[in-house]
Amino acid sequence: MKISGQVLFFKQAAWSAVLLALFLIISCATNQPIREPAMEQVPQGEEKYIDELTMLLMKKTEKDYPPGQTLRAAHPKQHGCVKAEFIVEPDLPEYLRVGVFKEPRSYQAWIRFSNGAPKVQPDSARDVRGMAIKLMGVGGEKLLEDEKEEVTQDFLLISHPVLPVGNVEDFLKLTDAAINGGLFWFLANPFDSHLRELGIAFQALKRHADLLQIPYWSTTPYLFGPGRAVKYFAKPCTQPAGKTPKSHDDNYLREAMKRKLAREEASFDFMVQFQTDPGKMPIEDARINWDESMSPFVKVATIRIPPQDFDSPGQMDFSESLSFTPWHSLPEHKPLGGINRARKHLYRALSIFRHERNGAERMEPKTPQ
Ligand code: HEM
Repeated sequence: MKISGQVLFFKQAAWSAVLLALFLIISCATNQPIREPAMEQVPQGEEKYIDELTMLLMKKTEKDYPPGQTLRAAHPKQHGCVKAEFIVEPDLPEYLRVGVFKEPRSYQAWIRFSNGAPKVQPDSARDVRGMAIKLMGVGGEKLLEDEKEEVTQDFLLISHPVLPVGNVEDFLKLTDAAINGGLFWFLANPFDSHLRELGIAFQALKRHADLLQIPYWSTTPYLFGPGRAVKYFAKPCTQPAGKTPKSHDDNYLREAMKRKLAREEASFDFMVQFQTDPGKMPIEDARINWDESMSPFVKVATIRIPPQDFDSPGQMDFSESLSFTPWHSLPEHKPLGGINRARKHLYRALSIFRHERNGAERMEPKTPQ
């Protein structure tokens, strides 16, 4: 009995070794990397694509706006920048106590709501909406080399859970086609078709009735402490808004926000979703929705937007002068994946370009409002 037990053990060990070897051989042969959580893989040529994308957007901005009146290359139309409180949940379990969520405390914040389209257009046009959150009073060294001492942490979210393109090369091709023509060929080229991308864009572009009652997602992943990746989600605490009003002016979204914040507060649950399967929840493909049935969102903070006036000319100008980037961040929340790597250089370069053209000073808010 003893001998047959040992034989069985050795047989099992041998089989495990053979299976492991096979797995490694297949992984190498098919060039499929062994996937680890929160693991980035930089494709060849990415840096070149990032430079080209930056130049493309700079040229477009130069063409679209005269000096002194240069708006953002993306999300140029703002609905307003509101004051908010970002309240970390009390009694978070240990695994959620990371970075800005380490202590049960409250941060003062600015939140800029915007339309995603690269030009200013009426709010009734189908669009993606942006929610850019800037926490203040965040201690600790930050990621950007020349902004290490800043005290802000930004979270950038949009009104759709995924991007139409998953990596920088495709983002460049799509942007180039949209600016310089050839969009049809980009989408329908039989040798390299992007019909899936068309489907996602179609779903993402929507009419919205109320910016304070729709959900926003980060779409791209972020570190959550060492070796773990999450996506972010801001879920409105009130019921989703009804249909777009029938009669409306070009800026009806700002008007709706003004009316609501004149009489009551608004709030969102800020949540994280952990990557639990690196194969099905990839870091490098922003087109893939991370399945909530595999990993549900967990609440880590409340965003409270108190009643207020937010559209004085001074405050609207202040909002224009701000720069949001996911790289305004603690290392614990480092942006992950190709799209986020592109945003590191790109947002900085375009923000500097925009401020220089406007003769404006570029600086991060230092203290709570
Ligand atoms: C490679 C992909 C992307 C490019 C090229 C891009 C480009 C830009 C640019 C140029 C700006 C204006 C920056 C400035 O002048 O200060 C901007 C703003 C913004 N982006 Fe992106 N973006 C990308 C991906 C994303 C993703 C994945 C999100 C997801 C949530 C996002 C959300 C936003 C938002 C909300 C703003 C407005 C920030 C504000 O209010 O100032 N972007 N983007």
